[in-house]
Amino acid sequence: MIYKMNNMKLLITIAILTPSIQTADIDIVWHGGEKTANVSTTEMSPGSRAEGGLWFDDNSKSYLFGGWSYNSVSKEFTLTNDLWVLDVNTFHWSILKPVSKNKPSSRHSPSICGIPSRMIVIFGGIDQDGNKLDDTWIYNLVDNSWEELTLSGNSSTSSHPPERGHQSSWCTSTKLIIFGGRNAEHKALHDMWSFSLVNQKWSEMESSKKYPSNSFGQTIVSYPKPRSGATTFHQGSLYLFGGDTAVIDSGETYVDGKYANDLWSYDIGKDSWTKIGGNDNVCHHGSYGHFQVASKDNWPGCRVKATGWVDTNGNLWMFGGDGSDSTAESVTVFKPGRLLNDLWRYEFVFKMWSWMGGNKYGNTGGKYGESSSESYPGSRTGFMSFNRYHNFHHIFGGFGHDTNGKDGLLSDLWEIDVHKEVVYGKYPTTSNVFMIIFGLCGLILLIVALSLYNRKFFRGSEKEKDKKSDTEYCMLTNIDDED
Ligand SMILES: *[C@@H]1O[C@H](CO)[C@@H](O)[C@H](O)[C@H]1NC(C)=O
Ligand SMILES: *[C@@H]1O[C@H](CO)[C@@H](O)[C@H](O)[C@H]1NC(C)=O
Repeated sequence: MIYKMNNMKLLITIAILTPSIQTADIDIVWHGGEKTANVSTTEMSPGSRAEGGLWFDDNSKSYLFGGWSYNSVSKEFTLTNDLWVLDVNTFHWSILKPVSKNKPSSRHSPSICGIPSRMIVIFGGIDQDGNKLDDTWIYNLVDNSWEELTLSGNSSTSSHPPERGHQSSWCTSTKLIIFGGRNAEHKALHDMWSFSLVNQKWSEMESSKKYPSNSFGQTIVSYPKPRSGATTFHQGSLYLFGGDTAVIDSGETYVDGKYANDLWSYDIGKDSWTKIGGNDNVCHHGSYGHFQVASKDNWPGCRVKATGWVDTNGNLWMFGGDGSDSTAESVTVFKPGRLLNDLWRYEFVFKMWSWMGGNKYGNTGGKYGESSSESYPGSRTGFMSFNRYHNFHHIFGGFGHDTNGKDGLLSDLWEIDVHKEVVYGKYPTTSNVFMIIFGLCGLILLIVALSLYNRKFFRGSEKEKDKKSDTEYCMLTNIDDED
């Protein structure tokens, strides 16, 4: 029995130690599109795109609406209002041809969400003339038609969000939620709205209506500053990182160029914001620390328009955007501004960030190799992204650096696969610890059950015992030493 227990201990020790000796295991795959920037739209693909709306239906399709495209004749960036569908198993694009006469105007930075196989909703964004929009459209996936939602009342009666662009959005299975953005006067907004996919109605969050003070006139301290271009993440809770908090004076010039690097979580049920850390007053450059080592001194630099997601351990990941890299020079008086391709992870157990991939210096070109070790997306902003089952994140296009390190509009599609790192990662994250405890309990129960069964069995028929004990239950034969 003692011998067996030692074996067991050894197994458990191995199970606990194995993850701790691995380094980060992240696969980066280039799934198509061009290595070079400025690709025009064809019948087969949307070509280069930036700031369109991209929504994944949690099954096999991602839908792309509008955004900037490249016009090879005029050699200019042009806004579109076309709708594409990407098969996420084959990575092939096809265009959808709406039968309706009406359709949303061409635009960039709309919010997008939907119900699988039924409908897509888009809201707001900015048109070719720079107008901020406040319209809500539904695309019916069954009969392929667009319809504008006529919302009773107007924005002053709070029935739908006022016009805006560069708002942040989260798409859950039942709601499209938006935060902030900039209005027609370029003023940074703080308001937060939810669109029910089922009722097709907008409503403003109570906390948002109260900002900056509650009904007693007290200042709500725990609420993110007004901003545009903040990065969003969601899984149960909603998260928000950074964005542009600059205040615009009446002359429409930046009073102070401020990108933020503060991280917030929002509890949907309680309608309350909690600040996790970072800064919204001054733009800080990134503190990268050692590669793939978590530290309380690490924190990503201020930025706008990165992409974020939450893995199956509940930790946050963030990639790219426009902001500040590891150098102080990347923070200028007017505007922090380098395109980034850094990959970060925030672990809630340790309350620490780790720099997990990419470059700590901004403005780097992409690597389009055959294997994961030779591939990495170049620095970019305004790209589109979608997440498959938490640990597989996809990014598409944006403004950024191509294979030659030249700037332009990108058409490349990437997958950042962190599932091995998340499941077998080197740190015992909450769910790893639970898995180990759960596994141990199961093992103990099994041993107890087997030994009880064995004993009962032995007291039964001697004949049966002889037959059975040296076959299936041989591992536990020494149990009857105790008898
Ligand atoms: C919006 O509603 C308010 C209150 O009902 C009304 O006074 C205002 O004229 C309306 N604005 C527009 C643009 O319809
Ligand atoms: C892409 O097009 C834009 C707009 O014409 C231009 O400024 C940029 O240099 C082009 N980039 C490349 C890599 O050709």
